[in-house]
Amino acid sequence: MTKSDYYSDVLEASEYIRSKVTEIPDVCLVLGSGLGPLTDRVETITEIPYEDVPHFPKTTVAGHDGKLLVAKLSGVLTFIMKGRFHYYEGYSTQEATFYVRVMAKLGVSTLVMTNAAGGINTAMNPSELMLITDHIGLFCDSPLRGPNLDEFGPRFPDQTRVYDKVLSEKMIESAEELGIPLHKGVYAYTRGPQYETPAEIRALKVLGADAVGMSTVAEAIAASHSGMKVLAVSCITNFAAGISGQPLSHSEVMENANKSSKNSIALMEKFFSKL
Ligand code: HPA
Repeated sequence: MTKSDYYSDVLEASEYIRSKVTEIPDVCLVLGSGLGPLTDRVETITEIPYEDVPHFPKTTVAGHDGKLLVAKLSGVLTFIMKGRFHYYEGYSTQEATFYVRVMAKLGVSTLVMTNAAGGINTAMNPSELMLITDHIGLFCDSPLRGPNLDEFGPRFPDQTRVYDKVLSEKMIESAEELGIPLHKGVYAYTRGPQYETPAEIRALKVLGADAVGMSTVAEAIAASHSGMKVLAVSCITNFAAGISGQPLSHSEVMENANKSSKNSIALMEKFFSKL
């Protein structure tokens, strides 16, 4: 696909969404594993199935819904992405971040993401939460590869501070007020869908990673390129490979994501009340 096709697809998708909503939110929240039930607690104004949005990819992961909501969360009008697109599903990082560009085009200034991650830093236990302070995206195909989308940002964007400081402070404050432990750390991206080997986890640890997962990084790159403020929180769903000696399983990941769900939801509600 050429650059102009991609950009015109972004325009078409954003125009479609604009035609469905009366007011455009300033924030987009992406729900990772465990946060799905949050949508039962928001005031939903509009619900748009992904399949109705021109050029939106379809989600293929069990347990990930595919719809875009416009809803009020703690009184704040927000887009909620229920389900996201992963490289391991077969999408390119450009496809996986298409929605981020659409949000940027709609004028959304803030992208808040949640995800599930394996804990590399053993100070973190499964079902605890980690604020992402920075990432290691060395294994991530850049969503910016190819002709630059000058409409959004520069060819060689700075990545010194991908995750917004002010928003991070608000998230830390929210956790403190609620008495919810919130670790801070570096998230390393792996392509998946296989979990890592113990040797890969040891290597990532040497590189400075605290947690590892298969999402978020490409989206954070596209969002920061588009000038959006980014915040992301990981739910540590398991000890990364080789740490506990037990094999990893998707059901363990889902179980711990669900266990943390009460805290993740409370934290998001508190955080949104500060926006
Ligand atoms: N590795 C990669 N992705 C993950 C993990 C993991 O251990 N846990 C949840 N998502």
